[in-house]
Amino acid sequence: MFFKSIRFSLTLWYLVTSAVILLLFSTFLYLTISSRLFAEIDKELLAIAEAVASPTLEPFRKSAPSVLDQVLEDFIGPKIAGKFVQISDAEGRVFSRSKNLQQFNLPLDKPTLMIAGMGKSTFQTRKMPPSYRVRTVVLPVMVDGRLEQIVQVGAPLTKVTETLDKILLVLAVSIPSSLLLLWCGGWFLAGRALKPVALITRSAQKISAENLSHRLEVVNPNDEIGRLAETFNHTLGRLENAFDRTRRFSTDVSHELRTPLTILRGEVEVGLRWCGNPDEFKKILKSNLEEINRMSDIIAHLLELSRAEEGELTLDLKRVDLQALLQDLVRQTGLPAEERHIAIAMTGSGPLHVSGDPLRLKQIFLNLLDNALKFTPTGGEIRLLLEHEREWAKISVIDSGPGIPEDDLPYIFDRFYRVDKARNRKDGGSGLGLSLVKSLSEAHGGRVELQCSPAGGCAFTVYLPTIP
Ligand SMILES: Nc1ncnc2c1ncn2[C@@H]1O[C@H](COP(=O)(O)OP(=O)(O)OP(=O)(O)O)[C@@H](O)[C@H]1O
Ligand SMILES: [Mg+2]
Repeated sequence: MFFKSIRFSLTLWYLVTSAVILLLFSTFLYLTISSRLFAEIDKELLAIAEAVASPTLEPFRKSAPSVLDQVLEDFIGPKIAGKFVQISDAEGRVFSRSKNLQQFNLPLDKPTLMIAGMGKSTFQTRKMPPSYRVRTVVLPVMVDGRLEQIVQVGAPLTKVTETLDKILLVLAVSIPSSLLLLWCGGWFLAGRALKPVALITRSAQKISAENLSHRLEVVNPNDEIGRLAETFNHTLGRLENAFDRTRRFSTDVSHELRTPLTILRGEVEVGLRWCGNPDEFKKILKSNLEEINRMSDIIAHLLELSRAEEGELTLDLKRVDLQALLQDLVRQTGLPAEERHIAIAMTGSGPLHVSGDPLRLKQIFLNLLDNALKFTPTGGEIRLLLEHEREWAKISVIDSGPGIPEDDLPYIFDRFYRVDKARNRKDGGSGLGLSLVKSLSEAHGGRVELQCSPAGGCAFTVYLPTIP
């Protein structure tokens, strides 16, 4: 658990990155210092070797060690202190060397001799007895393009090695201790950065299906975690809404079906107990049939809605001329509208074709017209507009009724939703019409919109994709 935590991985990554950077930097530092030190020694050795090989010292090059030392000290100065000088002939046979070399020779191997034979000088780091390292330069003395003598000048590397060893020691101590400090710092920083996550985890644990109103605490809405919490809160809001709707839906279904069932039972009981003649029975049975029809309507609507929402509704798609279809519907609604002195007018745009199921399309507009008729008071008017807007056919049903209060607008397409819940059941429907309009429009690749003015009147607009 600990090793799988984000805090641990963040700190680990931080540490690995820092370690790589530190190591690269230390290696670079070490190599630069070491090459500078070697360059300095090489420069000094070459200067001395060139002085020894100069024609001025030619007569002294074959002198005995003590004489050679003296001549070199006089000629070169204090720089010669601690340096080994050895002079050999073209075959590598040593014939003169400084006193400090004692019985030892500066190493001179065949490949170096060959390079010297070509007139080139070489720098080498060699081991000398007993066990210290020596840096040497091998400088050929050429006469008429021929190797005459070989001058070797060496210096012990003790100081350089000591300096480099000290640097190594400092790095070996400081890198692990810096990494330890970096680990502690990284652990602390990761902990601080992840603190809001722990907070979110705690508040998320309090949320359950029954308690969807709970929201996550947003510490800083502008950082990544704050934005995550806000997004989660929005999702929770939508979930809460969906849960509420489902809950309301189940209550509404039971309520809608219970009322006609209660009526049915009451009437049947009354009939069984009190009815004496067939006419009274007939009256009761007629009323029973009304309730049964009402219930089957609700159930049929619900079934259709579920099918449409699950995309299982089979549409018998045809090329439909909307203008003709709407004119037909206006004719159908003409009579009931006339009875209530409501004027229906249609403005068309000429033939406009969509691909749709004519029966379902009729269902959409009949529901809208039915609502408009139902909610428009006597003497009002209903307008039906058919327009062509880019690739859409736009059908608006506009009435002069009371409109819909703003608070109810977000729910108006929900199943069983009615603005006036207490409305008398005779003129009140079941509240399924608009949800069916919405599902059917969407099944046709369209959508439905609603505009209500505060002064009253509603405009339901259905958009359907046109075909050429
Ligand atoms: N044109 C309108 N003017 C005013 N209110 C409306 C209009 N259309 C719909 N409404 C409101 O929206 C509610 C839902 O309408 P919907 O068509 O879904 O149900 P309904 O007409 O009550 O019942 P059903 O259509 O199932 O017979 C209505 O009860 C009504 O309150
Ligand atoms: Mg309706």
